Amino acid sequence: MYQAPRGTADILPEEQAYWRYIEQKVEAICRLYGYERIDTPVFEDAGLFIRSVGEGTDIVEKEMYTFKDRGDSQITLRPEGTAPVCRAYLEHGMPNLVQPVKLFYLAPIYRYERPQAGRYREHHQFGCEAIGEADPALDAEVIDMAWQFFISLGLNNFSLQINSIGCKTCRPEYIKALCEYYNGYRDRVCAECRTRLERNALRLLDCKKPDCRQVAAGAPSSVDYLCPDCAAHFNRLTSYLKVMGLPFNINPCLVRGLDYYTRTVFEIQPDVEGAQSTLGGGGRYDVLIEELGGKPTPGIGFGAGIERMILNLKRQQVAVPPLAKPGVFIACLGEAAKAEAVRQAALLRKKGIGVLMSLGEKSLKAQLRQSNTIGVGYTVILGENELQTGTAVIRNMASAQQETVPLNKLPEHLRL
Ligand code: HAM
Repeated sequence: MYQAPRGTADILPEEQAYWRYIEQKVEAICRLYGYERIDTPVFEDAGLFIRSVGEGTDIVEKEMYTFKDRGDSQITLRPEGTAPVCRAYLEHGMPNLVQPVKLFYLAPIYRYERPQAGRYREHHQFGCEAIGEADPALDAEVIDMAWQFFISLGLNNFSLQINSIGCKTCRPEYIKALCEYYNGYRDRVCAECRTRLERNALRLLDCKKPDCRQVAAGAPSSVDYLCPDCAAHFNRLTSYLKVMGLPFNINPCLVRGLDYYTRTVFEIQPDVEGAQSTLGGGGRYDVLIEELGGKPTPGIGFGAGIERMILNLKRQQVAVPPLAKPGVFIACLGEAAKAEAVRQAALLRKKGIGVLMSLGEKSLKAQLRQSNTIGVGYTVILGENELQTGTAVIRNMASAQQETVPLNKLPEHLRL
């Protein structure tokens, strides 16, 4: 028997209410903040991600689903949503629109990770990108949007972590200080961190191993190395967050796992669990568009995992509205009544009333049991007697009361 590939999951009917609930909240928040939906292909040219996410990152080095298609093109299943949106921004002349261009997406994302609770090889993200504006007020707005989104879901007990990792002017100085510091701890950090020290020093701060975390705790902070422009940007951002009353924590170890970030980075983390549970994260990417061949254009955005939202909705026992189901079941006895049931079901559906009907040959008792299990509001019963008099019995399933009504009056009696 085949099974769904490791790290993927079927979204079964009983889970769908969570997904619809989240999609509605996404659409509502995006309307409030002025984001329009964009859908990009599930796969892109591999180069797009290598270029943007960065060669030294886990995503590019170990996690991308990359293959040659039949035309010999190097293809990658989307491992994140920002680069495709920036590609589309350039491809469709969006630099000519009023800036910032604000786009959101709901999209499946593919990463060959070690699966565990909250971490999958196929997951889904709500992401948004605001491209073409460098004002720190936009950083504050994007962070506020992420925060208000999780609140709108009914979640609580999460915190906002922010940091600034500077720009190409000030970051080299910081990386130098970081490397000098870590050089003194070569023996204490893990083998992977020793490689990071050579290749991608910022990521040293992100290692989850206990020893490495201890070393990271004493490392120099990027905010102490910011150039005057980056420092001013960060100060204005924090002052705006205060104006909005958003509680934040400046976390010097927050560096993010993708190379395109500049200046502001942030994450929203639930209070209960470790790093694998981050609800959402993002930041500025002021050189990404240029890197992809456009004019210098700043941008900022965030992504949030839908599976992790659902995990937290369940954990916090947030009730989501159930999806609408047919409210009527038609039971019938005998072939003539079955034909009438087929006719009535079609008529009722044309009037917008959801109907299920009994199939096969079952006793009335079995049909009523079935109708009870499905959980409809009404059962319509059609038998010989009813056919002769042109009527049907309607049973209210909650009160168990029954009444006989003319067939042509069924719709009026079945409006729930
Ligand atoms: P990211 O932090 O890699 O950022 O992913 C964003 C969110 O997606 C995470 O916070 C988490 O909720 C969810 N997520 C990531 N990987 C998995 C996984 N394997 N299984 C389940 N959920 C996962 C980005 O992807 C950036 N593109 C975000 C961004 C947008 N930055 C700027 N704009």
